[in-house]
Amino acid sequence: MKATITASARYLPERILTNSDLEKMVDTSDEWIRTRTGIVTRHIVAEGQASSHMATHVANTLLERSGSDPDEIEVIIVATVTPDMLFPATAALVQNNIGATNAWGFDLSGACTGFLYALETGSRLIQSGGYKKVMVIGVDTMSSILDFTDRNTCVLFGDGAGGVLLEPSENSYGFIDSILHTDGSGGAYLLMPGGGSLHPPTHETVDKRMHYIRQDGKIVFKFAVKGMAEVCADILERNGISGKEIKLFIPHQANKRIIDAAAKRCGLTDDQVLININKYGNTTAATIPIGLDEAVEEKRLKTGDLLLLAAFGAGFTWGSMLFRWGFDS
Ligand SMILES: CC(C)(COP(=O)(O)OP(=O)(O)OC[C@H]1O[C@@H](n2cnc3c(N)ncnc32)[C@H](O)[C@@H]1OP(=O)(O)O)[C@@H](O)C(=O)NCCC(=O)NCCS
Repeated sequence: MKATITASARYLPERILTNSDLEKMVDTSDEWIRTRTGIVTRHIVAEGQASSHMATHVANTLLERSGSDPDEIEVIIVATVTPDMLFPATAALVQNNIGATNAWGFDLSGACTGFLYALETGSRLIQSGGYKKVMVIGVDTMSSILDFTDRNTCVLFGDGAGGVLLEPSENSYGFIDSILHTDGSGGAYLLMPGGGSLHPPTHETVDKRMHYIRQDGKIVFKFAVKGMAEVCADILERNGISGKEIKLFIPHQANKRIIDAAAKRCGLTDDQVLININKYGNTTAATIPIGLDEAVEEKRLKTGDLLLLAAFGAGFTWGSMLFRWGFDS
């Protein structure tokens, strides 16, 4: 039995932060941000709005678009590094908000690769034959952990959510293959050091700004270019597929130059690659499902099309997935 995506949804908060807004906050320029990253604007949550709120919007849209009743949903997996709180899980908050009384769920921490880890998990649950409707949501409120005095990081990220409903395939299309990696030796290069059991919140951790993202951008960039390009090439080779056969490549959106390198390695042309980093920045676990929902809305996927997904992120984590799309969008 194959797992297939039967509905997609996205949610972006209303407020937009432009590069020129950031010019007034830190020593940066629109020109630097555009040329180094491809980012022009990003969305930021309203005061009081958190990951569960964005994820609930997505979950409700998934119910509506798939014509599912809340009590038909069996599992809710939320990929995030910015849960509303350490516990209960954001998935539990979403389950309650949408009234999915028969569902169990959990949060999954895979940073920028979180959505792929969650999609793999959800697909395997469907393929086990034990489940028929699994919601997979990627959401991050990056503005809650950004230091808006640090130009190295604050210009790169945005807030948002996206998700899919997974169901058993009726036409044998759907999940084909995945290659997922973790290399914890890269942990020190991209992290939020405070707030966990190692450095619980104290006045000192706050004074040392340990509850914000820290990143060595150059090292992450180097590993991301290599990791994403290789894992895309590997999955194509393992399945005997050439770049030409891919209808759409939806990569994690961290930096346009990282995406270009992966696309080039696989021989993909611009029209095969979905890019929206200009509008949203890096929304961490949300980039891929947001892109997927845009592709569906723009009717870029038809029944039988080959879809390639790939990501790289903190951990380090990275991976790629191949799907044969199951319906005409
Ligand atoms: C952050 C990143 C865009 C920087 O690009 P880069 O090509 O390494 O940057 P450059 O070498 O051209 O420039 C670095 C310089 O710009 C400065 N700089 C950093 N952020 C800046 C900003 N927002 N505005 C202006 N200057 C900035 C740095 O201080 C550095 O100055 P120095 O050389 O005087 O020390 C890039 O490294 C990157 O995208 N890394 C991966 C980040 C990522 O995607 N992380 C998420 C997980 S995948």
